[in-house]
Amino acid sequence: MATSESSGLVIPRAGVDLGHPDTYADGVPYEVFARLRDEAPVAWVDEPPYKGFDGGPGFWAVTRHADINEVSRHPEVHSSHAGATFLRDQRPRDLAALQQMMLNLDPPDHSKLRKIVSRVFTPKMVNGMLESVERYAHEIVDGLEPDTEIDLVAKVSAEMPLMVLADLLGVPRSERHLLYSWTNRMVGLDDPAYGGRAAFLSAFQEMFAFAEEQTEIRRRDPGDDVWSLIVNAEVDGERLSTDELQRFFQLLMIAGNETTRNLLTGAVITLDQHPDQWAQLRANPDLLKVAIEEILRFHPPVMQFRRTAVTDAELGGQHIAAGDKVVMFYVSGNRDEAVFDEPDRFDIHRNPANHVAFGSGTHFCLGNSLARLEVRVLLSELFARFPQMRVAGPPARFRSNFINGYRELPVALGPAA
Ligand code: HEM
Repeated sequence: MATSESSGLVIPRAGVDLGHPDTYADGVPYEVFARLRDEAPVAWVDEPPYKGFDGGPGFWAVTRHADINEVSRHPEVHSSHAGATFLRDQRPRDLAALQQMMLNLDPPDHSKLRKIVSRVFTPKMVNGMLESVERYAHEIVDGLEPDTEIDLVAKVSAEMPLMVLADLLGVPRSERHLLYSWTNRMVGLDDPAYGGRAAFLSAFQEMFAFAEEQTEIRRRDPGDDVWSLIVNAEVDGERLSTDELQRFFQLLMIAGNETTRNLLTGAVITLDQHPDQWAQLRANPDLLKVAIEEILRFHPPVMQFRRTAVTDAELGGQHIAAGDKVVMFYVSGNRDEAVFDEPDRFDIHRNPANHVAFGSGTHFCLGNSLARLEVRVLLSELFARFPQMRVAGPPARFRSNFINGYRELPVALGPAA
């Protein structure tokens, strides 16, 4: 681990470009994070120039569980206002647009938007979705041909969140593949398979035009879908602006789609690598609920979120200056030996209640119960119907420094039960 000295302070450097998508080409470099947690839990990462972007100022990589919680619970120190999802700093015009989205706001502005979604994403609403989620799981699994090899991502993992989102947003089901293409292009800027910058930009135009159309329809004629509730919700006597609504639509699409799909695929990959535990789950599907928590810990779909310090602060023995970027690596917090015994051991009986796969604090994931429901119901249906399914070849990984995910996964289904 390299160090450098500035004004008498020794700054530990990560020595690995944790901002570069190729660092994650073969999966999360867990050994790098273990070394950082041990030797430099808050380490500096340089940002060299990348694909037409100038080099960035660099960022602090936060790798211990306790420090991740400290950052996410103190928005007055570690703010989301400069963007929570992009490591690179945004141009002022792009940043102004991003700040219409709750993910990139701090209290009290954040609280106004969060209040609206919390009213909608209640346990009652999620429980009320059980029947439709079960129906979608049947449909997805019914559509699979026994004894064939399939791409699990396209045929199974992508389908459940798309059906649920189409339902929530009142979007015609036949149009769900548009949602898939848009969110892939938005999150897949670093993955050439999704078409690069032009595809990224056109995805915004197409999605925003669609969101505006859907919004107009719900204003005129509200239904009982979540989008109608959000469009017509009032906070302090005011409705959300068109810009805020477009960003809300985008947030729900990306948050609902890109994460849950990768949890489903990651679950199958992880269980395939631990056949004895997969066999236990098949024999006793009641174990699935707790097993999903361990899958979230062991293979979290979101690798990191970013904050920016607004005041000077101390963190993990380092001095963070106002303006510094601070990146919380959930993939590392979930393997912190100070919190989880033998963290690199996958154990479906562990029940790791305090994993940080859904973040923590101010922006804690609002869709967590919905994601858990979708994954539990779909996996239990899939495993019951195809008890001999196995991964049939290497996955194609999604090229990203943000999503821990896959574009494709070949799976041999085996006979139907
Ligand atoms: C926020 C992860 C599924 C909606 C977050 C955050 C994480 C996360 C880590 C915190 C962001 C931050 O601190 O800046 C996940 C994972 C999911 C998942 C791993 C699936 C396995 C969903 C679903 C929805 C959703 C299904 C809704 C349909 C949201 C929203 C926020 C959020 C609205 C923003 C909350 C805020 O800014 O206050 N999610 N998410 N998520 N998630 Fe999820």
